[in-house]
Amino acid sequence: MKSRLSLEGGVPLKGTVRSSGAKNAALPILAGCILTHGDSVIHNVPDLMDIKTMIKMLEALGLKTDYRSNGTLRVSSTQKIRHIAPYELVTAMRASFFVAGPVLAKTGLAKIPLPGGCAIGSRPIDLHLKGFEALGATTEIQHGFVVMKAKKLVGTQIYLDFPSVGATENIMMAACLAEGKTVIENAALEPEITDLGEFLNSAGARISGLRTNKITIEGVSQINNTEYTVIPDRIEVGTLMIAAAITLGDIVVEGIRMEHQEPLIQKLRDCGAVVEIGDDTIRVSATERVRAVDIKTMPFPGFPTDMQAQFLALLTVANGTSVVTETIFENRFMHAQELIRMGAKIKIEQNHVTITGVEQLSGADVKITDLRAGAALILAGLAADGFTTVHGLHHLNRGYENLPAKIRSLGGRISG
Ligand code: EPZ
Repeated sequence: MKSRLSLEGGVPLKGTVRSSGAKNAALPILAGCILTHGDSVIHNVPDLMDIKTMIKMLEALGLKTDYRSNGTLRVSSTQKIRHIAPYELVTAMRASFFVAGPVLAKTGLAKIPLPGGCAIGSRPIDLHLKGFEALGATTEIQHGFVVMKAKKLVGTQIYLDFPSVGATENIMMAACLAEGKTVIENAALEPEITDLGEFLNSAGARISGLRTNKITIEGVSQINNTEYTVIPDRIEVGTLMIAAAITLGDIVVEGIRMEHQEPLIQKLRDCGAVVEIGDDTIRVSATERVRAVDIKTMPFPGFPTDMQAQFLALLTVANGTSVVTETIFENRFMHAQELIRMGAKIKIEQNHVTITGVEQLSGADVKITDLRAGAALILAGLAADGFTTVHGLHHLNRGYENLPAKIRSLGGRISG
């Protein structure tokens, strides 16, 4: 697989492109298949490295899978689930830890390697473990593994100190087979959590309060099989919307859920881009440099941290001075250093950066440090003067399905 790609800036992107399935919905839904019994079919599963890693994880735990290139995944699950997750899969992708809740609920024992941190932060799992303990499990760290045991999980009231996406998902899955009712207070509201809950309900779980910060799960004795379609990837859609604004182009993105895009639509309109809304399409265009705006990342429905890097790239060529504040992760400005190499004027402080917009960036060799930083650098390269080579492509392939091909289909000059 190529490790870098080259692009030439200055071409306004124009045309229509369709979004892929949401990585951050498909990953917990695949983990949720561990709870099911029988053969399930999941549609709109994006073809990504992280999805392949999760499929390997399911196979390692004893499930059977069959993934077709049209995005349909067949999963067969039985009562016979292994309870140890392989080290190399969990360290390859920390979202593998989503299997903890389902394995614990189904077998009463889960031995999952402690997921490492990553470039953007330490990524602790204390809220996940606190939830499992509240449900009656013991948890301890032994030789780098988190060992979770429970003769029986019993429903209870759980308050999350922070509306953690992963903790909400893991606890919700564990509670599905617990005895009695579980209420998760201060639950995260991200659309991917709703998608997971609706997937589980379609297989026989009894979850209510989705789309709210108070999720109630009535435990059931068994979860069956189902057929389900994953929601569109709101972060990929947002990335393509910004591609239109930063290249002064005109792009229609098809197959979207409007309610998932509101924070970005508002911010793009605030900075002067034109955003037109259809039933399941969104059209973004810009004919002149956007205006500077301030961004502060917040849990959903606030401005998503996964769009911070991409919007920051847009602000480097905005007219005026912007402040971007990152409140979710402690180290999510590494793309700023690379953008500075392209001529951006950015002052990096503790958890915020101040950007003075420039007329145009200049193409350069840049390095991807994490998934969304990679998207940001590609957006910057599309708007820069001259050629940009983006190194570290494996980060991008983890989370974007055929992004270079989609950009080429919109007239972008990009290899790879
Ligand atoms: C999910 O990560 C997403 N990943 C992330 O997307 C996304 O950035 C994040 O949610 C926030 O929206 C997947 O869904 C696979 P969190 P997650 O638990 O669940 C702290 C991408 O680019 N925290 O909501 O790990 C944590 O340190 C990725 O697609 C604890 O302190 O996010 C962080 O500061 C990047 N203790 C904050 O909460 C815990 O037990 C948000 O983390 C758990 C989290």
